[in-house]
This record gives sequence, C-alpha cells and structure tokens, in this order.
Amino acid sequence: MRPLARRAASLLSPRAHPPLVAVELGSGAGVEARFLAEQGFDVHGYDSDPSVGPAMARLARTLPIRHTTADLAQIDVLPAADLILSCATLPFVPRTAFSTVWSTVRDALRPGGVVAVDLFGDRDDWTSTDGTFLARAEVLALLDGLEIVELSEEEREGRSFAGPKHWHTYRVLARRP
Ligand SMILES: C[S@@+](CC[C@H](N)C(=O)[O-])C[C@H]1O[C@@H](n2cnc3c(N)ncnc32)[C@H](O)[C@@H]1O
Repeated sequence: MRPLARRAASLLSPRAHPPLVAVELGSGAGVEARFLAEQGFDVHGYDSDPSVGPAMARLARTLPIRHTTADLAQIDVLPAADLILSCATLPFVPRTAFSTVWSTVRDALRPGGVVAVDLFGDRDDWTSTDGTFLARAEVLALLDGLEIVELSEEEREGRSFAGPKHWHTYRVLARRP
C-alpha cells in the first residue's frame, strides 16, 4: 500500500450518505483502490493496461469500485471527486498531453477535495523518455489556487527495474479551497 494513499485518505472524513468519491489514475491491480473502497469511498479507477481489468473486476464484485481501461491522455472528463489519487503514474503521461490531463484533474476536484500525486523532477535519470519531468517552479504552477498540504521533493540514488537510477521525485498533496 502506498503511503500517499493512506495520507490522502486521512485528510478527508469519509461519510456514508452520500459516500465520498475517489478517482484513482493508474490503478494498477487495485491495491490502493481496494484500500479507499474499504475506507468508505466510491472509487473510480483508470488504467491504460487492459491486463489490470480482471483484477479490478474481481474487487468490484464486493466493493464500490468502477474501473475504466483508458489512456489518461484520451480522457476529457473525470467524475466529480473528493479525492484524486495517482501513485507513480502521471510521470508516464507524455509531456504533450500532461497539461490537458492536469486540467481534467483540476476540473474534477470538488471544493474541499484533495489531490495526491507523485511527479518526477527534471533531474531524474529518465528525463530522456517520453514522460513528464517537472522543475519545482512548474510543480508550484500546477498547484496555483490550491492549498498545498505537502510538497516534498527528493533526490536519491537508487534502483529501477532497469538497474541503478537517479530518482528525482515530488510527492504532492493539495486541497481545493
Ligand atoms: C508504476 S505503475 C503504478 C501502479 C499503482 N498506482 C501503484 O502505485 O503501484 C503505473 C500504472 O500507470 C498505468 N499508466 C501509465 N501510463 C498511463 C496512461 N497514460 N494512462 C493510464 N494509465 C497509465 C500503467 O498501466 C500502470 O498500471
């Protein structure tokens, strides 16, 4: 379970009627979607990988989870949400599509809602790949008009599936006033 999901959920007080709505972008097999549903959220998960669909469908049999297989770059509108969570996914959206995706996220966030995302920085080793890598000032610009709950930036030597890697990441939690 990603700590970002736990922290984001802790910023909201789930209610039964109507339940709070969470959108998860890049759900993977649904670990965080499951956690959020068990916390009382209605969850809308999105992932471009069709192979995660069956796992999400299994979760949806017993939990309030709906899943859509889609490329985020192709989504024009998201459900109005109290929480928008995206762990280790938005950096893989191509730079050309990122600002549209981010506008869609901002438009879906309800007043009082929380957005919690991982982003990659512009000194990350993967900057030559087709993703989105942001300078701190660009991250701050994305958050303009939101209340920043947490903006932590980390640079470290570590590993990826491809071997040693310099990681430059941001962890962002912000609330719409
Ligand atoms: C590194 S995994 C993270 C999965 C999960 N959120 C987690 O934290 O373990 C990235 C996920 O994002 C999905 N993904 C990557 N690019 C995407 C895009 N453009 N649209 C939708 N999903 C995407 C991948 O299929 C994958 O499931």
